[in-house]
Amino acid sequence: MTKIALFASGSGSNVQAIAEAIEAGKVPAEIVLLVCDKPDAFVVERAEKLGIPVFAFKPASFESKEAFEAEIASRLHTAGAEYIFLAGYMRLIGPTLLAAYRNRIINIHPSLLPAFQGKDAIGQAFEAGVKITGVTVHFVDEGMDTGPIIDQECLRIEHGMTRHGLQKAIQKIEHSLYPNVITNLLNGNREEQN
Ligand code: GAR
Repeated sequence: MTKIALFASGSGSNVQAIAEAIEAGKVPAEIVLLVCDKPDAFVVERAEKLGIPVFAFKPASFESKEAFEAEIASRLHTAGAEYIFLAGYMRLIGPTLLAAYRNRIINIHPSLLPAFQGKDAIGQAFEAGVKITGVTVHFVDEGMDTGPIIDQECLRIEHGMTRHGLQKAIQKIEHSLYPNVITNLLNGNREEQN
């Protein structure tokens, strides 16, 4: 079993989906830590119910990003985490964590990158009136939603679909795509980037 850490800032539906896929024996991993930069986020409650160890912190109570990332890195090492999967972690990963986990940080983003980077990608796609959108899983680099793409799945925005309907459809894709990509990656079916 590969030891993985998940990072999240929000509701945690992807954390739940990954944990359930592991429980069902579909993903060869053990979640050794959930890192959350918003102690009040619903994901913290979910993780506790799922029995996942949690490190929730307030960035403002640290001197700098470097300081809180050093604390995270130390906790990740103690927990033995080999990979980091971002699941709605709404903060750029800085040089400290990138150096500690080079090519071992992966993110899921609710658009077909490079379209609609950044926050509220679903809203951006909806407002733009595109007919095709989707989900991307990619390696994390120093940019925002810019690292090498691992996999994507697309979705047609049907006539009359509401923003809420689009969000639901995107989430449904995410909850199956992310566990599948994690499995392929951990099974060595995807070359790591140099
Ligand atoms: C997901 O849709 C994820 O793709 C997105 O945040 C949501 C978290 O949902 N991430 C980004 O936008 C990253 N740029 P969840 O908390 O229910 O898993």
